[in-house]
Amino acid sequence: MAQIFPFTDPVAVETTPPTQFVRGNGVRVVDADGKSYIDAVSALWCASLGFSPERLTRAMADQMGKLAYYHSFMGRTPEVADQLAARLIARLPGMERVFFGTSGSEAVETASKFVRYYWNAKDRPQKKRIISREGAYHGSGQMSAALTGLTYCHDGFDLPLDAVLRTGRPHYLRDAEPGESEADFSKRRARELDALITAADPETVGAFIGEPAMGAGGVILPPDGYWAEIQNVLAKHDVLLIADEIICGFGRTGEWFACETYDIRPDMMTLAKQLTASVFPMSAVAVSGKVYEAIEALAGKNGTLGHGVTYGGHPVGAAVALECLDIYEEMDLPAHVGRLGNLIADGLARLRDAPGVLDVRHSGMLAAVEFNTDALARAVGEEAERMGVFFRIIGSVLAIAPPYICTDADIEEITSVMRKAVEAQAVPQ
Ligand SMILES: Cc1ncc(COP(=O)(O)O)c(C=O)c1O
Repeated sequence: MAQIFPFTDPVAVETTPPTQFVRGNGVRVVDADGKSYIDAVSALWCASLGFSPERLTRAMADQMGKLAYYHSFMGRTPEVADQLAARLIARLPGMERVFFGTSGSEAVETASKFVRYYWNAKDRPQKKRIISREGAYHGSGQMSAALTGLTYCHDGFDLPLDAVLRTGRPHYLRDAEPGESEADFSKRRARELDALITAADPETVGAFIGEPAMGAGGVILPPDGYWAEIQNVLAKHDVLLIADEIICGFGRTGEWFACETYDIRPDMMTLAKQLTASVFPMSAVAVSGKVYEAIEALAGKNGTLGHGVTYGGHPVGAAVALECLDIYEEMDLPAHVGRLGNLIADGLARLRDAPGVLDVRHSGMLAAVEFNTDALARAVGEEAERMGVFFRIIGSVLAIAPPYICTDADIEEITSVMRKAVEAQAVPQ
């Protein structure tokens, strides 16, 4: 084998090589042996329009025929990148400018650098540390991995953890105290955040980053009042808020952006994945007017914004993203995701009382079944895979985030396979 595989045990892979995939067919992927699977988590929560989206293929080919590559440095830019920026700004709540990159990790790296730039522009050079939460996933760069709150992403890499402050995850089910209501749990998390910032010295804390609903940490949906409480504390200490919408953005939780679902008013947003339905690597950082003014002032003084990547604002990616926006608008994204999300919830509802099931939850088309043990979740996930449906196994959780192009019958297949895989565990073999 010549590849180094990400998030894979390199020793185990020597005896169990990865399954190779050769074709996509709507919401299904086909492996080298011809076996077809529904990917019920859109691969990495990202292939919102499935694995053979013809309109995106055409958009890509058309743009390749017109202008296959150009950059946005030093006074030039592809026209299509400018068009995409304008379309995004018209959609993004409270944002005024966007900066393009190529991956989600890179978007988080950029947002982290913008935090430093912002506070330097404000002449408060100590205000640089960023708070993130246990269980968060923000990427695999230096800073984005340090912000990630999953220790297996830190091990062995000597990340710049000094630049990060860590606070508790909003996992009511696992972390609430006996008798604590959701609202009280949210208040406690806010008090803990307040204490953390106060102890660290607010003049050293520049920003807080959070996924509106957490993905890779186990589909953790915010409990009642959580974001309102957190935003009060951030405002009190003049701490910027970065909403990492890399999974949630473009419809996943039932509104165009999860900031709308949860009434979050961020200073910056990071976007990727469903921006291009993941058929072209592209990401973006959107910033509010307040943040942009500071960036503009300091970059103006410095003579340039000394930050950018060769493939940022790639014309082919921009053309694909514009076509995605057209498709999302034609499907009336919030209504469409709301309807399919309800079908998922209905299909999973009867699992609530199944032996070993701790919780069933969803927000739009982001859903999870949580089990009592990791072993049970793994057994159900592996059984579902044998039955031709991929869920993402995350400890005791099976995550579900299917492509938006699922038919009602696809949703029925996904939820019935989940039910059957759970039932199969209850029956002695
Ligand atoms: C919330 C969140 N932020 C950042 C990232 C990193 O994105 P990428 O893998 O494109 O670098 C991910 C990837 O899953 C993510 O889920």
